[in-house]
Amino acid sequence: MRFTMLTHSTLLLSLFSTLVLARKNKYIVPGATWYDTDGNILSAHAGGIVKVNETWYWFGQNERSEDKDLFSGINVYSSSDLLNWKNEGRALSPIPGTDIGPEKVVERPKAVFNVLTQNWVLWFHADNSTYGLLRQGIATSPNVTGPYTFHETFRPFGNPSQDLGLFKDVDGEAYALYSNGDADTDHDNLITRLNANFTNVEEVVYTFYNFDLEAPNILYTGKRYYALMSHKTGYRPNNVVVFSAEKLAGPWSVQSYIAALGTRTWNSQSTFTITAGEGFSKSYIYCGDQWATADQLYDSRYVWLPADIDDRTGSFKINWHDIYTIDAKTGRITYPKGRDYEAEQGEITGLAYITLCPTCSGTQVVTGIEGNATVTIKNIIGTGQPQWLSVYYHNPDGLWGDNRGGVSVLSRTATYSVNGGVPVSIRQRSGSAGIILSQPLNVTFHAGGGNTLSFAGFNGGAAADLDKIVVYGNIYDD
Ligand SMILES: *[C@@H]1O[C@H](CO)[C@@H](O)[C@H](O)[C@H]1NC(C)=O
Ligand SMILES: *[C@@H]1O[C@H](CO)[C@@H](O)[C@H](O)[C@H]1NC(C)=O
Ligand SMILES: *[C@@H]1O[C@H](CO)[C@@H](O)[C@H](O)[C@H]1NC(C)=O
Ligand SMILES: *[C@@H]1O[C@H](CO)[C@@H](O)[C@H](O)[C@H]1NC(C)=O
Ligand SMILES: *[C@@H]1O[C@H](CO)[C@@H](O)[C@H](O)[C@H]1NC(C)=O
Ligand SMILES: *[C@@H]1O[C@H](CO)[C@@H](O)[C@H](O)[C@H]1NC(C)=O
Repeated sequence: MRFTMLTHSTLLLSLFSTLVLARKNKYIVPGATWYDTDGNILSAHAGGIVKVNETWYWFGQNERSEDKDLFSGINVYSSSDLLNWKNEGRALSPIPGTDIGPEKVVERPKAVFNVLTQNWVLWFHADNSTYGLLRQGIATSPNVTGPYTFHETFRPFGNPSQDLGLFKDVDGEAYALYSNGDADTDHDNLITRLNANFTNVEEVVYTFYNFDLEAPNILYTGKRYYALMSHKTGYRPNNVVVFSAEKLAGPWSVQSYIAALGTRTWNSQSTFTITAGEGFSKSYIYCGDQWATADQLYDSRYVWLPADIDDRTGSFKINWHDIYTIDAKTGRITYPKGRDYEAEQGEITGLAYITLCPTCSGTQVVTGIEGNATVTIKNIIGTGQPQWLSVYYHNPDGLWGDNRGGVSVLSRTATYSVNGGVPVSIRQRSGSAGIILSQPLNVTFHAGGGNTLSFAGFNGGAAADLDKIVVYGNIYDD
């Protein structure tokens, strides 16, 4: 009897901890740190996504802080809702002494299924640490999650190849889209059809001459192809461009920007576009990487935003949304409403002051948040649970292109404190003059009103100008 009771309570306890662990994300939150279903940071950068039998698989570069090797592996995650991702382990691991050794570069993994061989084929850009090899690499597996068996690396048609994207068309043919690399003075981007087994390139179907672009990927809507690519500015974001065409062989449209100028694609670089649902509610999600600095790649984030596409004009646009939900089956997207609190209505100390800002909410902003200055927003209503909060700020340090010498600062650092608690630092990435950006925070207030949120610079340095905060609902489905 005693034994039964013990087992019973142990069972209850484990049931309880399972319930606690299995908290489910409700929203896609661009620019936040994303966690997998085990509660670990989701590490799948410069990724590619495939859908098989109602399950999505996301392949990406492992950049965890504890994994110091230049190439430490390609991770793969699975999800049925695009919100909650399960770690399916390493799809590809380094093999010392080969072209995918730990001292090598393996980037931009993309997987594609080959019907002839019944194998998954993983393609990637393979290089050495100084980007002098400029090769493409392949690995295969009968299982989508791998582990993948490494085969070889090669230069397509003997030519250099740098950033790589992969596209499988509706007729079953697959194509690689890649740049011919910095070493090549032509700076072209090529679309090449793969061979029947998807193990090599076979034919160049189009060349974007002398565009000098990277981070390429292709989407097909059923009517029109869209090729997204970014400019070459290292880990600093720039204005991603789109080209469109009715056929992969062209003619392709001229390029145009996908996001408002000055946002530098909302601080992201293109990597993939997801198609979710069908018919009227079908939607497209632009997937971008928000890279941190080269020595902090582990803190790189994901910026996924719904894309508005017009097949008649070939327009592909993204707008910022703090948080949103998606029904992965229908593609329906909903944007929850938050509650706004203006910074200019907060308590301001030190040298900070209110000034006009034509692009700000209420056309006012608090600037000069440095030294011992603080801004405290009061009477915030909370839920008592972790909830999303967006900080709207103005940081024009990214004026490169406008500034002589073209120097820009990637980000400022601010600190925030909830109800007088320990200050936490946040990165406030730069934009441009008058561009208001928003940074998500995960905060837990007391349930009800009377909460405060204080902002300050970090170690006396300047924080970005503060426009407002928006407080949303709970992070998890409880
Ligand atoms: C998808 O479903 C088909 C048919 O049930 C099955 O043969 C195949 O193995 C499944 N693929 C994956 C990756 O689960
Ligand atoms: C990378 O490869 C290029 C071309 O072979 C070579 O010149 C360069 O020294 C290599 N870099 C390293 C770090 O081995
Ligand atoms: C593929 O998955 C099946 C089912 O989980 C497993 O039995 C098999 O060993 C896997 N094959 C490889 C090559 O990993
Ligand atoms: C394609 O795959 C088949 C089956 O594995 C193999 O017999 C054939 O040699 C491959 N062809 C090429 C060009 O790799
Ligand atoms: C804040 O800094 C200013 C000048 O930097 C100084 O005059 C003032 O005394 C400081 N205030 C507090 C409360 O420390
Ligand atoms: C939010 O914060 C809570 C409390 O610190 C933490 O347990 C949870 O993992 C965080 N969730 C996300 C999605 O950041």
